[in-house]
Amino acid sequence: MKDLYGDIDRVLIDEKQIEARTRELSRQIEADYEDTEDLLLICVLKGGYVFLSDLSRALARPHDIDFMGVSSYGAGTQSSGAVQIIMDLKQPIAGRNVLIVEDIVDSGRTLDYMLRNLQARSPGSLRICTLLSKPARREVEVPIDYTGFEIPDEFVVGYGLDFDELYRNLPFIAVMKPAVFAHLTNGD
Ligand code: IMP
Ligand code: MG
Repeated sequence: MKDLYGDIDRVLIDEKQIEARTRELSRQIEADYEDTEDLLLICVLKGGYVFLSDLSRALARPHDIDFMGVSSYGAGTQSSGAVQIIMDLKQPIAGRNVLIVEDIVDSGRTLDYMLRNLQARSPGSLRICTLLSKPARREVEVPIDYTGFEIPDEFVVGYGLDFDELYRNLPFIAVMKPAVFAHLTNGD
């Protein structure tokens, strides 16, 4: 069996840091949405599932959740640039207070696409909460309302984030050993 931990070079953000920051973000979100009963968290699949689960449980206020599956990456570490909806929401969002929950904003293309797509459905409000952001990689500016951590330009895995569909279950954010990428040429 593959040794996931053996592929890790170093832990960038550990479980305690993630937990503490998630708690801070939750308090901020609670305060910002204090005056409304309505809040819908939209989890961007697949990567957002771990963060959504922790953020949702940290939020001491009513909210419901929905899921949206988008794909912009193949098996590699470079975005193909083309974003596709592979699973849509189960409900209309017209008039709703919508908060997108994402794992990481890299080039910004995925969220830029999602923002335009969701805005066209006339939500009451639309904001973004991302656990991670790599500002150095941005190609399209996206207005992020809540950021967990800004990280350097390194490919990370764990806590929902994958490389080639693996490592999502690691409970921390980690940088992989360069040897793991060695067989890749470019892109997908
Ligand atoms: P963007 O469209 O370039 O902003 O990329 C967003 C998506 O790419 C995220 O939702 C992730 O699924 C994926 N991604 C970007 N950077 C990383 C990384 O360092 N590790 C794993 N996935 C990443
Ligand atoms: Mg991914």
